[in-house]
Amino acid sequence: MKFETLMYAVEETVATITINRPDKLNALNKQVFKDLTAVLDEIGNSQNVHGVIITGAGPKSFVAGADITEIQQLNASTAKDFSTRGQNVLNRIENLGKPVIAAVNGFALGGGCELAMACTLRVASESAKFGQPEVNLGIIPGYGGTQRLVRLIGKGRAMEMILTGDMIDAREAYRIGLVNKVVPAVELMPEARLLVNKILSKGQIAVRYSIEAINASDSILCEGLSREAALFGLSATTDDAHEGIEAFLEKRFPKFKQK
Ligand code: COA
Repeated sequence: MKFETLMYAVEETVATITINRPDKLNALNKQVFKDLTAVLDEIGNSQNVHGVIITGAGPKSFVAGADITEIQQLNASTAKDFSTRGQNVLNRIENLGKPVIAAVNGFALGGGCELAMACTLRVASESAKFGQPEVNLGIIPGYGGTQRLVRLIGKGRAMEMILTGDMIDAREAYRIGLVNKVVPAVELMPEARLLVNKILSKGQIAVRYSIEAINASDSILCEGLSREAALFGLSATTDDAHEGIEAFLEKRFPKFKQK
């Protein structure tokens, strides 16, 4: 299969999806979500693909977030749907019924961190950086970050990452439980393959049911996601959001007016 914004390859029973917009640090735009939906349909229906690895093209970035130029276009009637659309694709990854490993090769910011968190497990290269920097733009995470980060690293640390917008390095991400493993960059893809193949060497019905049961422990995730989408929708249409996004695109510091 060919995609505008993804590279897709299947080796034995493992598919690798590479988000491929390196000039924009693999930011998630409408087309990436369209392509991801199509590839997830294909993988979901395939008898031959048993596990998946998701990574980013180029040496610098896994995914540097939702595409900020698209957030700039949002208005009161589209902002909440923008969040819900991304959440739905990430929910599909989380509930694919096949193990999905995020191989985090660089920046995993905003939607990139959220994408990694929706995967079953996360392996990071030593140079990877994680963060939820939305607050720097005057908005909030909208693809499940407010929900999955709390579940992975706890409320206190999640509050700190989301309210400061600070990035953390791979070692710190490992220390606080955001990633499962950190390896040198050259070992990233082999390590991700090793991990997924280890899981695939077990009983696949048991693996599928384990993922389903663990995900079911989050019975209020849905409620939290819908609250997040509503609040993202409100945040993305404030004057502060316009200023924060304009400042990013003009490569300057924002001047927030708290409205
Ligand atoms: N959306 C759209 N474009 C993005 C992007 C995003 N989330 N992240 C990076 N880009 C673009 C930049 O605008 C730039 O485009 P240009 O070459 O046309 O100017 C290109 O990708 C390279 O990014 P640049 O900022 O020049 O690289 P850098 O090495 O100086 O900084 C980052 C890297 C990741 C620190 C910086 O790009 C960044 O802060 N990105 C936004 C992260 C973010 O806020 N994500 C959450 C979005 S909701």
